[in-house]
Amino acid sequence: MSSSTVTGNVTLSEGNDDNTLSLPLIAGTVGPSVIDVRKLYADTGHFTYDPGFTSTASCDSAITYIDGDKGILMHRGYKIEELAEKSDFMEVCYLLLKGELPNQAQKDKFTHDITYHTMLHEQLTQFYRGFRRDAHPMAVMVGVVGALSAFYHDSTDITDPTQRMIASYRLIAKMPTIAAMAYKYSVGQPFIYPSNELSYAENFLHMTFSVPAERYKLSPVIARAMDRIFILHADHEQNASTSTVRLAGSSGANPFACIAAGIACLWGPAHGGANEAVLNMLNQIGSVDRVQEFIAKAKDKNDPFRLMGFGHRVYKNYDPRAKVMQQTCYEVLDELGIKDEPMLKLAMELEKIALNDEYFIEKKLFPNVDFYSGIILQALGFPTSMFTVLFALARTVGWVAQWNEMMEDPSQKIGRPRQLYTGYTERPFVDISKR
Ligand code: CMC
Repeated sequence: MSSSTVTGNVTLSEGNDDNTLSLPLIAGTVGPSVIDVRKLYADTGHFTYDPGFTSTASCDSAITYIDGDKGILMHRGYKIEELAEKSDFMEVCYLLLKGELPNQAQKDKFTHDITYHTMLHEQLTQFYRGFRRDAHPMAVMVGVVGALSAFYHDSTDITDPTQRMIASYRLIAKMPTIAAMAYKYSVGQPFIYPSNELSYAENFLHMTFSVPAERYKLSPVIARAMDRIFILHADHEQNASTSTVRLAGSSGANPFACIAAGIACLWGPAHGGANEAVLNMLNQIGSVDRVQEFIAKAKDKNDPFRLMGFGHRVYKNYDPRAKVMQQTCYEVLDELGIKDEPMLKLAMELEKIALNDEYFIEKKLFPNVDFYSGIILQALGFPTSMFTVLFALARTVGWVAQWNEMMEDPSQKIGRPRQLYTGYTERPFVDISKR
């Protein structure tokens, strides 16, 4: 369901009341309404100014809703906590892509179709060998996912809805294979092919941790935790990487190129790279008795240090994903028989102190999804450099769902922001001999 209605106007006045401007107000189904400024420049010669898009809705969307003040995240109307508890990643993928939860037959067909697209074109294995062994796996992901458009020409016609859906399935299906191969290449082990009898999460664990000499023993608790981690990262409204995918797609670029752009954006430590940064930070802090020192650093305006895994552009309350992640963390450590994990102790102490500190309370800085995910992923055996790769793998469905929604929107235009120019005004060219 997608619906928006014009509910009235807002009137802006400039200087004196003779100079007023009335702009339409549009309401969605829930959440803040928006002031429609599309005709503002044509009517007034003014742009709006909003670096970082803190007050700007870049599109309308019926996929994901966030209420950052209340700490609510819903996909297609279903709360993330319920999806994490009662659903699985394949169902969530279907929900994001198609708008409704699948019935059993639809789920079976979807799972089958995804499972039967997990293999990569064999020639792509040559592509991996061109990278240095010590390359960051996110660098490999950007390259390999971008290169998919060179291998799957039959799903790059973006005007054809069937090709768009095939490309979407391919991306969701092949991402675990690509990610596991990036890992295998970095540790010098042979690539492991997907196995169709396994679930999506099991298959990823198998391709990552099996070796030809010994198959990885799958634990249902671990596979369920992996699946839940994928659910928690599946989509998150118009975040930086999703907006990047939409912006890239708005020019008519093919979906593989658009998702590669999303992966590049996700890599940064302010976004998907934060889970890797959390673990690096915990290692840097080292012990509980140094927590106060680092809290002080985070509060010091002259120190660029930030508590990684804390704060969010939208959530001014507990990130609902962080609560599920914390629970999953306990389950995983318990299953693995890891007692008194020092990183977890450190993280809990840090969380406790930060949640009671005036600075963090006043700025509404709460733990976000990345705060606990790193501890789980490390316990599962993933190196820190793979953390953001897992985020990219899980977020792929959100990216393709948002990209499809945009492509189906008849009012879609190329994204082309304007600027407030602050450079030189016109000046005469100076010959090189006189500079
Ligand atoms: N530690 C210390 N101070 C912080 C932190 C932090 N983690 N986050 C924000 N602040 C302060 C910041 O210094 C600023 O203070 P002041 O108003 O005095 O200048 C105020 O809080 C607002 O911060 P901001 O940078 O203007 O807020 P933003 O909405 O632009 O940034 C953020 C959001 C997530 C980039 C930021 O909170 C951050 O850098 N957090 C750490 C990185 C992190 O955990 N990122 C993962 C986000 S969740 C996963 C995802 O969606 O990708």
